[in-house]
Amino acid sequence: MAKRGLDDSKFRLETRLALAGRDLTRNDGAVNPPVQRASTLLQAKAVDLYDASKKTYGLDGMAVQDALREALLAIEGGAGATLAPSGLSACTLALLTVAEAGSEILVTDSVYRPTRKFCDQTLKRLGVETRYFDPRIGAKIGELITEGTRAIFLESPGSLTFEVQDVPAIAGAARARGVATIIDNTWSAGVHFHPFAHGVDLSVQALTKYQAGHADALMGAVLARTPQWHERVQTMYAQLGLNASPDDAYFVLRGLRTLMLRLQHQADAALRLADWLESRSEVVRVLHPALPSHPDHKLWARDFTGASGVFAFVLKPQPPERMAALLEGLEIFAMGFSWGGYESLIVPCDPQIARSAIPWESEGPLLRVSVGLENGDDLADDLARGFSRLLGEN
Ligand SMILES: Cc1ncc(COP(=O)(O)O)c(C=O)c1O
Repeated sequence: MAKRGLDDSKFRLETRLALAGRDLTRNDGAVNPPVQRASTLLQAKAVDLYDASKKTYGLDGMAVQDALREALLAIEGGAGATLAPSGLSACTLALLTVAEAGSEILVTDSVYRPTRKFCDQTLKRLGVETRYFDPRIGAKIGELITEGTRAIFLESPGSLTFEVQDVPAIAGAARARGVATIIDNTWSAGVHFHPFAHGVDLSVQALTKYQAGHADALMGAVLARTPQWHERVQTMYAQLGLNASPDDAYFVLRGLRTLMLRLQHQADAALRLADWLESRSEVVRVLHPALPSHPDHKLWARDFTGASGVFAFVLKPQPPERMAALLEGLEIFAMGFSWGGYESLIVPCDPQIARSAIPWESEGPLLRVSVGLENGDDLADDLARGFSRLLGEN
């Protein structure tokens, strides 16, 4: 419920996103919450210093962080949202919430590589083993669960290779054995996939991507299905001393107000581009779950209400200098990590793909694109000129 005392649950998502955090009783009537840069919060009464129900320190978050949390819950649902300084720190916060020395975590082989590194290095040092599994394992995940399994970490679709996971089957098998499930749900921006409806316990968002949307802020969030899970995440957050800056929270909240419009444009343009790429002779295959040719298309159509603007395609094998000619001559697409912003990005991904459970087999170089807000025909023309350079035609 919003601070205005009205029940917003009757409204549709776009309306809830517009209203989230509005509080006419404060802020002198300003539409947006104030950015309060605060560490110390002064208390008039001694008894309030130790009152856990009151904000007593800047790390508790102020009006703008509260408004952002409210907006995130409006999108994905759940019992509570915890902000983190980056998407990666939201992944590691969720993992630390469930990690126990001597236990094991099952992680999808398609996971974001820095999350994998955290598991392989830091969790390992803390006595937590990680076992990777085929992203397409589905209900067979049950065969991997042991007495020592504490959690299963999913990412769907994988952000480089775009396998869609059977989340209901995996979460169902996990629950039957008392194992927690966490999902990195960044690709859907929380809009087009609802993990809590499938019994997932924690949903992680890299807000840096679509929510911030303008390539100018880093932030993440962990949303929890139940109050108990939220409490556990909050405890870990407090003990780690994490903070989500008010300025960045303001940027992310501002981005959220236009999320639905941007996402729709970017998803439409990306699908058109993916379609066009499928018709090109330079391209071996396009990895976009909304394309009927994608091996997980049926799963995607069953569980998702839409797509975002990030996908990949595989080219026929090419010498490195031709690939460089394609990429370095692009006029609209720019090379850079991250995605979800208003600017279109492209990156060759093979060096980032790390697999141990099931090998990643590719006929040629894999390029990931994040479609921005530019004109879709201009983007296709930019790539078409790149393909001419690839073939040495100009
Ligand atoms: C799937 C996924 N999760 C998490 C992150 C981390 O987000 P951030 O860059 O905010 O740390 C990324 C970043 O690219 C990502 O692609």
